[in-house]
This record gives sequence, C-alpha cells and structure tokens, in this order.
Amino acid sequence: NGVEQLGNMIAEASSIVPFTGAGISTECGIPDFRSPGGLWTRNRPIPFDEFVASQEVRDESWRRRFAMEPTFAAAKPGRGHRALASLYRAGKIPGIITQNIDNLHQASGFKADDVIELHGNTTYARCIGCSKAYDLSWVKLQFDKAGGAPDCAECGDPVKTATISFGQSMPEDAMHRATELVGHCDLLLAIGSSLVVWPAAGFPMMAKERGARLVIINNEPTDQDDIADLVIRHDIGDTLGPFVGN
Ligand code: OAD
Ligand code: ZN
Repeated sequence: NGVEQLGNMIAEASSIVPFTGAGISTECGIPDFRSPGGLWTRNRPIPFDEFVASQEVRDESWRRRFAMEPTFAAAKPGRGHRALASLYRAGKIPGIITQNIDNLHQASGFKADDVIELHGNTTYARCIGCSKAYDLSWVKLQFDKAGGAPDCAECGDPVKTATISFGQSMPEDAMHRATELVGHCDLLLAIGSSLVVWPAAGFPMMAKERGARLVIINNEPTDQDDIADLVIRHDIGDTLGPFVGN
C-alpha cells in the first residue's frame, strides 16, 4: 500500500517539505471543503469583495465562524500532524507549507516561524485595513454588543478572520518563503489536498520541476498524480501513523 516505499523515501531524503490540505485535519473533526459533507458543499464561500462591500455579508461570515468555534476549539493534532512533527524534531523537515487555517501544525510542535500559512489562520482576526490583530473573544464580545460584525478600533475598517478569502491577495511573504523551501527540498509530501486551488497547488508541481521527489497522499485522485513518484490513495492517519515517534 506504499507505506514501505514512503518509509524508504523519507529515510533517503535530507530536506522534506510537507504541503498540507484540509484532509490531514478531518480525523480531528474538522470537515474539509470538497468531500461529501465538506464546507463548500454546505455553504458557498464568501468572496473577499462581498465581505468588504456589505455589513450583512460580514455578519453572516462571523456567524458561520462562531458556529464552527466548538469544532476548532476541540480539535487536537491527528496522526498526520504528529508524524510530521516527529520528522520535524528529527531534523528532516526545515519547514511546512499549509493551506490549512486551523493552527494544528503549530499545536503539534512546529514553531510558528516554521509553519508557512498560505491561506492564513482562523484562530484569530485581523483588520483588513491596518492589519491590527484581534482575539476572537474580542470580536464575539463586540458582535454581541452591537448585534453585528465589528470594525477596527484603530482605523474603522472591517475585522475579518486572519484567513485568505477568494479574491483576496496571497500573503507575499508566505509565497516567497514557500518558494524558497520548495527550491531546496529533495522530497515534497502533498498530504490531504485536492490540489485544485491555485496558486497554492503550484508548489507540489514546482518541487518536481526543481528535481525533488513528489509523494501524494490523498483519498481521491488529483491532477498531479501523474507527475508524482508515489501516490498513496489511502487514509492519511493510517498511512502516517507508523511515522509518529516520540
Ligand atoms: P479539499 O476539501 O479541496 O480537499 C481535501 C482532500 O483531502 C480531498 O481530496 C479528500 O478526499 C482528502 N481527504 C479528506 N480526509 C482524508 C483522509 N482522512 N485521508 C486521506 N484523504 C483525505 O481541501 P484543500 O485541498 O485543503 O482555501 O482545499 C484547498 C483550499 O480550498 C483551502 O485552503 C480553502 C478552500 O477553498 C480558501 O478558502 C482560500
Ligand atoms: Zn484597522
């Protein structure tokens, strides 16, 4: 089923860069986006320009986020997160690139500086104007007081989860650091992503083009399976469980 081959590739590699998507967190109780029951099968994504333009849309966006809070608050790193954290502690992983916004790589033991979040983080909020950071508890308090989504106390612009919405520009620093990591790795592990959202989905392909090996671990086929050195179409927790160390 590929686990032995994966083990050999991990042993042979000196710089492994994981690239993760929502599939690594489903065993932690967080739904992904495109599987049956996924977030985008229940709600359509709110594009950034609609969030900026309308108080009602901002209210709806924050109501959705508050409804998810028990799920995010209860989530603990799964076997996939813990296996990657073990390889990180062993010095095999210089940094991790994630599309996930759930903070679980940090929770599993990665230093915040070594987690490159391409799509931001939903465990705190930011003003979309001046970038001031806010705790979600502050947002909830203001929302309940005013009966709607709050604006920044500093500049008056809307406050949004610190995530990247469709139509919002990618974080330049994260894109730059991800490109650097990929350029220097010898093995990229694409884990739990449908690889349909760009530019994020360009990184596995880029690793391959720069001479690294590419492994894809995902339940469903992806468009990059044909360029991968190894495709493991199995459960992520079961596949990476054997690599959880101390
Ligand atoms: P998707 O929901 O598109 O893909 C998750 C993939 O993980 C699917 O192909 C599932 O089959 C697979 N999967 C789920 N659980 C699994 C498990 N236990 N074992 C193996 N495979 C499993 O999620 P992403 O690719 O992360 O961005 O989505 C990419 C981006 O689309 C997100 O970052 C988000 C979303 O819109 C923005 O909102 C900007
Ligand atoms: Zn502000």
